[in-house]
Amino acid sequence: MKLLHVAGARPNFPKLAPVHRVAAARGIAQLIVHTGQHYDDALSASFLRELEIPDPDVNLGVGSGTHADQTARVMTGLEPVIEAAAPDWVVVYGDVNSTLAAAVVAAKLGVKLAHVEAGLRSHDRTMPEEINRLVTDRLANLLLTPSRDASDELRREGEPEGEIVFVGNVMIDSLLAARDRARRLDTLERLGVTGETVVVTLHRPSNVDDRTRLQRIANALSAIARTRPVLFPAHPRTTARLASFGITLPGVRLVEPLRYLEMVAATHAAFAVVTDSGGVQEESTALGVPCFTVRANTERPVTVTEGTNILVPDPDALPGLVASAVRPAAPRIPEGWDGRAAERVVDALQQRA
Ligand code: UD1
Repeated sequence: MKLLHVAGARPNFPKLAPVHRVAAARGIAQLIVHTGQHYDDALSASFLRELEIPDPDVNLGVGSGTHADQTARVMTGLEPVIEAAAPDWVVVYGDVNSTLAAAVVAAKLGVKLAHVEAGLRSHDRTMPEEINRLVTDRLANLLLTPSRDASDELRREGEPEGEIVFVGNVMIDSLLAARDRARRLDTLERLGVTGETVVVTLHRPSNVDDRTRLQRIANALSAIARTRPVLFPAHPRTTARLASFGITLPGVRLVEPLRYLEMVAATHAAFAVVTDSGGVQEESTALGVPCFTVRANTERPVTVTEGTNILVPDPDALPGLVASAVRPAAPRIPEGWDGRAAERVVDALQQRA
């Protein structure tokens, strides 16, 4: 059996790493194609290093652009690579533009497509990721879901039962493997933050591309910072928007994006996290850290029903909610978030090769 993995943006890498490692241990032939959607060391190469992902066999170097532009460049670059490699499976991860592009190319070449993290839905088509999820799942031949509710979503959409396999959350495989190494980094101390720290990540266009909303979020973060330290590793998109809108965050410690292990360390040590990232919602649930998601919806409802996540559509509510955060004594961990999801992914790929 031969696998061709496609990854391109930061959240893809903690999902790819365990699947690649398990497949390698089973002697399966595999190729990694990095689309180049993310290219900064902090969003890409540092993740590959820390997650011990081998150097990609191919880097398409697509870089940034509009949605159509970026997606088209991945498609054009990937088509000859898949044709030459003739894999049994193209394996795609998550919901970024690279995921969508690879799905369309594989489907049109008639190569079987497996989607890791299938079935997540925010039911909000203004999110680019929702379009990517819908199209990828429609085209995939194997839908590997992280939670039971995701499998149910796919059934409701009419996907054949035989294509849906509940495997659990591969990102938690990476998190559990990294947790002890991460803790030794003392990331908060290194960044000069002490005390009950609130760790913030924000990068969704709906939050950061709108001046009024970003200003309201900034005001809320500064209000929190009057009572406890706030560490904000800002995504390049967010840094650019803050600068162009002239928005400042008095009292907030604004830093570059953290590397993978540093982010795990910071989340683990946090009093609470404030985020709009899908991955951080999941990681905080797995670590039992209170999470406030600055969105009206989530494609990861299990982090609300079984985890620590609370949706906060109105940024003005953040200071009050964060002040009353309580870390659960014994966190509830969703089914299949057990560090062995990648084994179940590779089992499913082998059974259907
Ligand atoms: C992408 C994903 C999003 C994911 C996020 C994680 C899509 C549609 N979006 O959003 O789902 O949650 O990654 O980070 O695929 N930039 C850099 N350096 C880089 C990459 C980007 O500075 O290495 C800047 C560029 O100005 C670029 C902007 O960030 O225009 C946005 O990058 P892009 O990949 O288009 O989307 P993200 O916002 O990163």
